[in-house]
Amino acid sequence: MKGIVLAGGTGSRLHPATLAVNKQLVPVYDKPMIYYPVSVLMQAGIDEILIISTPDDLYNYVSLFGNGSGFGLTMSYAVQPYPEGLAQAFIIGRDFVGEDSVALVLGDNIFFGAGLHDMLARTRSRPSGATIFAYAVDDPERYGVVTLDATGRPVHLAEKPALPQSRWAVTGLYFYDNRVLDIAAGIKPSARGELEITDINEAYLRAGDLHVECMSRGYTWLDMGTHDSLLEAGEFVRTIQKRQGQLVAGLEEIAFQQGFISLAELSERGAALGKTDYGRKLLAIAAEQA
Ligand code: DAU
Repeated sequence: MKGIVLAGGTGSRLHPATLAVNKQLVPVYDKPMIYYPVSVLMQAGIDEILIISTPDDLYNYVSLFGNGSGFGLTMSYAVQPYPEGLAQAFIIGRDFVGEDSVALVLGDNIFFGAGLHDMLARTRSRPSGATIFAYAVDDPERYGVVTLDATGRPVHLAEKPALPQSRWAVTGLYFYDNRVLDIAAGIKPSARGELEITDINEAYLRAGDLHVECMSRGYTWLDMGTHDSLLEAGEFVRTIQKRQGQLVAGLEEIAFQQGFISLAELSERGAALGKTDYGRKLLAIAAEQA
């Protein structure tokens, strides 16, 4: 399975903070925002990742991740000339995905929860279809919204509906079989001029092939679309890391757990970042394992 991180957009709701820097590079407490969505793909066992961003910003991601080998990853990069919608990821990423299945994560989404690893493993093991992840919120009109029947099966989808039929927001993490490439190639721009991910999900819903994983109370899902939500996300990460002494989105730690890098590489990376709590934590994890 391949992974795509969509990290373009104008970040206009975070101006002036994002006038000169791409939103997904803005720090969320101690690391760039994009670390958080990348960590989700890695926790799903995905080590071939495509980062899509704007023509002006893509080189910053190349500086950050290089060829990915520091994290045991193979990183590829592609430009999205204009932010014409989330579904465009599968048009831009068509060659990268090839014959494989693919997971897409939005560059401004954080997922956290003890059950995440198992949920991702269950999702990956589905041989076909699409899986979306739903999270109950108070303001569903800001998101894609899915309605479920009594047995938890999806019956309706809508993108930012004025009158939501349910409180289940569709989060920015999507798993698809290879059919997504052709479905994306066939959809038309919506009234707001974007190729909508919701239209892709609707095609799977119509085919009876859309699965929904509900993230219950034990999970945290944050998107960082506004100044307040960005600050809240940073505070959330700081609280967890200080209180539990655990890294949230410690990419080298996950890479080690997944067998993408060796113990020696983990130590090396910790030493290189040794002036920070992040680096010291990597060193401590390496010492525990030695
Ligand atoms: O966060 C989850 C929501 O994301 C879903 O519930 C919605 O169904 C989905 O449409 C999307 O909603 P938004 O309208 O809030 O997405 P936004 O335009 O803020 O873009 C999300 C991220 O993707 C953001 O970090 C910028 C990036 N992006 C967005 C577009 C439209 C791109 O890189 N390229 C794009 O063309």
